[in-house]
Amino acid sequence: MRSPQKLYVTFLIIVLLFGSSHGKLPPFWPITVVTMTNCLGNKGKSGPLLTVHCKSKEDDLGVHKLAVDKNYHFKFQTNIWRSTLFFCSFKWNKQVKRFDIFDGLRDIDECHYQCNWTIKADGACRLGEKIACFPWK
Ligand SMILES: *[C@@H]1O[C@H](CO)[C@@H](O)[C@H](O)[C@H]1NC(C)=O
Repeated sequence: MRSPQKLYVTFLIIVLLFGSSHGKLPPFWPITVVTMTNCLGNKGKSGPLLTVHCKSKEDDLGVHKLAVDKNYHFKFQTNIWRSTLFFCSFKWNKQVKRFDIFDGLRDIDECHYQCNWTIKADGACRLGEKIACFPWK
């Protein structure tokens, strides 16, 4: 069936699904989970408490304190433009470091909706088939 009506309906569906940039995405749109683990411990020994504070342009995810080997996760739906960005500060002892813990363009194809990060003194490592480590910003 090739008809203007069909084209119109298709167009309408696309507009309804993706039209509003701040609207909620439909429930079938996949959910990404980002997990980060305090890996500041020294070879199985105890280590410093890690204070994590993540935000996006729209959301402030609050302050979370992680003991060594503990993790914290949050969930979201990436936007269709792949421009979703979550940035965090990481504090321990007297230092503050910053890192983009989720960058759609960098991470979507690598994480497959489950991004696991280890937080170490010199930066963050994304786990997976290929472990990728990044220095602090
Ligand atoms: C990430 O963590 C989840 C939950 O613990 C686990 O199921 C998944 O296999 C992990 N993925 C990688 C690549 O480490």
